Amino acid sequence: MFRKRLKTQISSMPASAITPETIFLDRRRWIAGAAAAGLAGWSARPGFAAPALPSLEAVKNARYTVDAAPTAYEDITSYNNFYEFGTGKDDPQRNAHSLRTRPWSVTISGEVESPGTYTLEDLLKPHPLEERVYRMRCVERWSMVIPWVGFPLGDLVRRFRPTSKAKYVAFKTLYDPKQMPGQRAGWLRWPYVEGLRIDEAMHPLALLAVGLYGRVLPNQDGAPLRLVVPWKYGFKGIKSIVAIRFTERQPPTAWNMAAPDEYGFYANVNPAVDHPRWSQASERRIGASLFAATQPTLPFNGYADDVAALYRGMDLRRWF
Ligand code: MTE
Repeated sequence: MFRKRLKTQISSMPASAITPETIFLDRRRWIAGAAAAGLAGWSARPGFAAPALPSLEAVKNARYTVDAAPTAYEDITSYNNFYEFGTGKDDPQRNAHSLRTRPWSVTISGEVESPGTYTLEDLLKPHPLEERVYRMRCVERWSMVIPWVGFPLGDLVRRFRPTSKAKYVAFKTLYDPKQMPGQRAGWLRWPYVEGLRIDEAMHPLALLAVGLYGRVLPNQDGAPLRLVVPWKYGFKGIKSIVAIRFTERQPPTAWNMAAPDEYGFYANVNPAVDHPRWSQASERRIGASLFAATQPTLPFNGYADDVAALYRGMDLRRWF
């Protein structure tokens, strides 16, 4: 996050490469298909043609769309933060092929009535997938528009029936330095962890994503399951989730532990609260010409009408 690199080569994939196929697979079949195709190993290594990832059956949710062109697939999948694979923006795309995303399981624990360890297939089964286009804003002052495929986190929360003591939801990324070589370095405490207040987790905008642009998530974008919270800075969007825990107390978060003065628990996008080392008032859209003007950052990343009520009465300078 501290390294600022200008992307030198920003290009677009041809539309034909990203148009979802009309072959719709049911979820079990795409999971089986992904495993059979050995997709855990795809990456854009030089001389290596990435196979197209399997399509997902998802219904477009017209309520969640953006009045701007989606960022090119190529940019969404090559300009990433995923420190488990290096700190450079192009490191995740080059290195994340070592992550095996099948089989995958997620442990649900803490203040819930039905804790347990669930295979990814079982976790996804009851949840129809939607496509939603969200504005995404990174704390590093760049933004993207991403067509995610996923389902509301709130649906999953309700399904596991939190007890009355559950005030927060904590998330954890896989810890396995063999698959995630960046975990051998000490730039963050591993595993990466994140958290939400339970009312934030229940908010209809909070999404668990399994795909983008109509296809299974590439590893560098957080396969097989990641969090997407569009009114918060991107670091809330924890990738490759293996555990979800319901807690009474506010859980620790990776970037808050690393630099508590710079990254708070809430991480709501707020142009009025500067990062200690830079202004948060504007942003650069990835893929725009380097000469294009930056654009103003909006409170709650433009989702204030939806989410401001969650924070009524809170001093957002203190609870940053
Ligand atoms: N999750 C894990 N496990 N490790 C990370 O380093 N980086 C975060 C977040 N989730 C990160 C993570 C940060 S800083 C950002 S901005 C977003 O992922 C970036 O998501 P993207 O690469 O899909 O745009």
